[in-house]
Amino acid sequence: MEYLHEPTAVATARPRFSWIADHDQTAYRLVVVAVADGGTAWDSGMVESAETALVAYAGASLGSDAAYIWTVLSRAADGSERFAESRFETALLDPVTWTTSWVTPRQRPTAIERWTLLDWIRGAQPEGGPTERLQPAQLLRQRFTAGDDVVRARLHATARGVYVPHLNGVVVGDQVLAPGSDSYRHRISVQAYDVTDLIHPGENVLSLALADGWWAGRIGITGSSAQYGDTISALWQLHLDHADGSRTVVASDADVVSATGPWVYADLFVGERYDRRLLDTGWTAVAFDDTSWTPVEAKPADPTVLVPFEGEPVRRVCTLAAASVAADPDGDGWIVDFGQVIAGRVRMTVRGLEAGTEVVIEHTEALAADGSWFVNILGINTEQTDVYVAAGPEEDTWEPTFTFHGFRYARLRGLREAPGADDVVAVVLASDLEQTGSFVTSDARLNRLHENVVWSQRGNFVSIPTDCPQRERAGWTGDIQVFAPAATNNAMIAPFLGRWLQNLRADQLADGRVPIVSPRSHFDEESAAAAQGIGAIVAAAGWGDAIAFVPWTLYQRYGDARVLEDAFPAILHWIDYQATSAYSGGDHFGDWLAPSTLEGKPFHEAIGIAPALTGALIAPMFQAKTLTIAAVIADVLGRPAEARDLASRAAAVRARFAAENVASDGGLPVELQGVYTLALAFDMVPNDRIPSAAARLAGLVEERGYRLDTGFLSVPYLLDVLWDHGYPELARRVLWQPAQPSWLYEVDHGATTIWENWDAVTPDGTTRATSLNHYAFGCVDDWLYRRVAGLTATAPGYRRAAIQPDLEAGVDVVSAHVTTPYGRLAVHWARSEDAPGAAQIRVEVPYGITAELAVAGRRIPLDSGISTHTFALPSAHPLLLGQSPSLGD
Ligand code: BGC
Repeated sequence: MEYLHEPTAVATARPRFSWIADHDQTAYRLVVVAVADGGTAWDSGMVESAETALVAYAGASLGSDAAYIWTVLSRAADGSERFAESRFETALLDPVTWTTSWVTPRQRPTAIERWTLLDWIRGAQPEGGPTERLQPAQLLRQRFTAGDDVVRARLHATARGVYVPHLNGVVVGDQVLAPGSDSYRHRISVQAYDVTDLIHPGENVLSLALADGWWAGRIGITGSSAQYGDTISALWQLHLDHADGSRTVVASDADVVSATGPWVYADLFVGERYDRRLLDTGWTAVAFDDTSWTPVEAKPADPTVLVPFEGEPVRRVCTLAAASVAADPDGDGWIVDFGQVIAGRVRMTVRGLEAGTEVVIEHTEALAADGSWFVNILGINTEQTDVYVAAGPEEDTWEPTFTFHGFRYARLRGLREAPGADDVVAVVLASDLEQTGSFVTSDARLNRLHENVVWSQRGNFVSIPTDCPQRERAGWTGDIQVFAPAATNNAMIAPFLGRWLQNLRADQLADGRVPIVSPRSHFDEESAAAAQGIGAIVAAAGWGDAIAFVPWTLYQRYGDARVLEDAFPAILHWIDYQATSAYSGGDHFGDWLAPSTLEGKPFHEAIGIAPALTGALIAPMFQAKTLTIAAVIADVLGRPAEARDLASRAAAVRARFAAENVASDGGLPVELQGVYTLALAFDMVPNDRIPSAAARLAGLVEERGYRLDTGFLSVPYLLDVLWDHGYPELARRVLWQPAQPSWLYEVDHGATTIWENWDAVTPDGTTRATSLNHYAFGCVDDWLYRRVAGLTATAPGYRRAAIQPDLEAGVDVVSAHVTTPYGRLAVHWARSEDAPGAAQIRVEVPYGITAELAVAGRRIPLDSGISTHTFALPSAHPLLLGQSPSLGD
């Protein structure tokens, strides 16, 4: 349901059902039954249809916070039937079901620290240590009684901060950092937890630990605090359903009491300080004496900002053992290498420590070339340091609760001995998305490149799609705009990005501008208004276009037209803004970080060159492309008149661009790979000049020795543009290029994630102070799936697919799969060892997809199921493209 398995908080009144049919379905019947009374909410009757994905509910109104069983009967052409059953529950669908109050513990508000970009560049630092500046986490308790007839109990809770709920001494659920990041001015996600088994007849206690989180903590490039508020609070409503069908509601209110506990401070960015001596053991238990705790302040909540959380929450998705532990050559600590750059935190076990001993854990993504400690992230409030204060010699295992870091290495100080390998593990945090793809070849470097992308995706899909998990953790729109297609192969991202798109649309300005970052705070607004140059940019070409590109990508890969319906008005609004002179004449990031523009100059100077050189040129390209996307969307939504109008507006932008910028020989005003790439990818070059523009691009690629000179916006298209315009061999050479800037340079220099800058580690091994975990340039992973493995959707949602492996990709074996809405689409191809010059391709096609194998000019229709095809290649290796080898079977 809604892309999830047995969801417990469906947030829409018309949810969609999907199932995988293991036969050729010709008809289906869906039945939905309410668990409470066994009543049938919907019976679709037998529907003659092959559809198995995203079939919308069309029954009686679904109840709020209610459980349902659904069944599907799928009938094949031969009359055989299959049957399956599943369940779902709804969230608090209707805001009026909220009767609760925000409860605010008495607290010293967190210090308001506001920094500008200039402060950041100048290396400003706040005065005073975190203990003085940051506030402690709060503990909250509420007692309530329950009868012995509770058959179902659901806790709906959220916070302005981040929180961990407990019931009767037990942690509720396995989420971390709830409620997650949202554009809190407009939306705060509510979590729904099944707590039936935790309720006892008689006295119960609900307790919460609450810290600053995204609400009051330090976030964004400047690490400014209190961007949504300086005071933390929580809210909940516990629903106890009784055997007789009645419901008792326990809501957060003035009877809640609070105190501070072991978290001296807990900040998402800075880190947390946990003093075990301050832990009141048993504070989450019923028996705990809370008479000395302070009553909270309770204020009725405005239910309109409360929205059910959609998708999968952040969880501990895996742990990594230490790959090595070594004494810090420069100090008294130990450096632990976890072997992989991640977003997460360290869990450690200590013993034999004197009470009051401080163990300090610092984090970094890279060491210096000589193995000494080096911090690759500079900035304000980016300490990424956790402090544990021991209560005594007893063995104790501790992991921070309210923070996470971007790191591969941790330095531990304060321990008398080196930590044993079992005493430290890295806990990986991420939005817990279903992994849906795989890509493995006979080439270890290519495999590592793919793995690096997967790790950067994991490390940056933490509640929202971010640029990097250590420095900013900001929802930069441009970054996900370029990365979304690649992300769809690796994980089920539809609900994750669907929720983010709701934030993005909520953040859209009244004049149509789509901000460069979402969630966006008041502070972001004020700082842009006070800044100049790049810092003053509110909306930019290629960033704001995420509002169209991301839904379009989701539609392409998942076939979900509702995504387009939801997105369309906001896209039109953005398009209107793009038609203004504020857009065409405004500042843009351009082809951000285009490599040659950064060479040989100090970074802070160089960073402005690509925007200045390419911004004005790229703006109309994105305007035209977004208009075209909008035109196609209008068509899909059955609005042909609008589609025509949008298409003609797109044509006008292109005509004007060509008249102003495309010379008769196909030349463009700026001789950069990225500019040609985008112009060709977005159809900005008149037909008669395409071959010469493409030849010019090919020339630029050759001149640079097949090294990349594409920035953020153009890099997703470079290989496709070369390929599509007759330069497949060039595309392959760029992919395999080992000299920087290139993907394999990173791999060859020990990368375990995708870097923000191609030379984050210089050829002599020096690590620069830049992010090692930025997924944007990892968009090439989509090419690996589509072109190297050859798994390509040729109609939305893979209704039609082509398997078109590049047998000349430069590898001998490729195995890959994606999970389409209809099931697994897989390919395994290998150049045969026994028969040189032959290749075997095994494909797996699910029912519901019309697929073909497209190799070397041949198109072979594929049946559902697994089949193997052998191609005899010309004896002279490599196989020449366009030749038609004979089909073996
Ligand atoms: C971020 C990006 C972002 C860019 C915008 C950087 O600081 O890390 O990835 O897109 O700014 O210019």
